[in-house]
Amino acid sequence: MLAESFLLSFLSNIFYMKPFKVVSNFEVYESVEELPKVIQDLMKEAVSARDNAYAPYSQFKVGAALTLNNAEVITGSNQENASYPSGLCAERTAIYYAGAKYPEVQIQNIAISAKSMKHKVNAPVPPCGACRQALIEYEVKQNSEINVFFMGESGQVMKANSIKDLLPLIFDNSAL
Ligand code: THU
Repeated sequence: MLAESFLLSFLSNIFYMKPFKVVSNFEVYESVEELPKVIQDLMKEAVSARDNAYAPYSQFKVGAALTLNNAEVITGSNQENASYPSGLCAERTAIYYAGAKYPEVQIQNIAISAKSMKHKVNAPVPPCGACRQALIEYEVKQNSEINVFFMGESGQVMKANSIKDLLPLIFDNSAL
């Protein structure tokens, strides 16, 4: 009986289950100095925005800087709250500000830098899941990809050409 049900599930897997593979692409830069000059400057904006983080609870400061195609740079940093879930990440403070101030202007790049007040962050820090969901909304809205550059305090910088590389199988308005 056991062998029979094993055989059945094995056969149904072979005949009905279709594998579905998701591939994400990233580029790795060994340091900020390897980035194109305009992105180096954008990362500097993210680093200085990071200093404005209000992170007394996590001691983890994040800065984000966006370039828009009207040449504006918008920055944001994480803002925490004694009621923890009321705080907001750096990426969302920046993108919501951009959406609120320039609703018709496309976002081209976002640079993100994170620093802990407790230990050295030497590896790239990607945006959290909630920020990926918030960012993809704008990619869909503007119908063009947003390049994401992310790093820690030092060390390598990673680049995704689209939020979709960070968030495959997106949930968006096409499902509604
Ligand atoms: N944080 C960000 O600002 N961006 C992220 O993508 C990850 C986390 C903030 C939220 C919180 O203030 C602190 O980092 C620790 O999670």
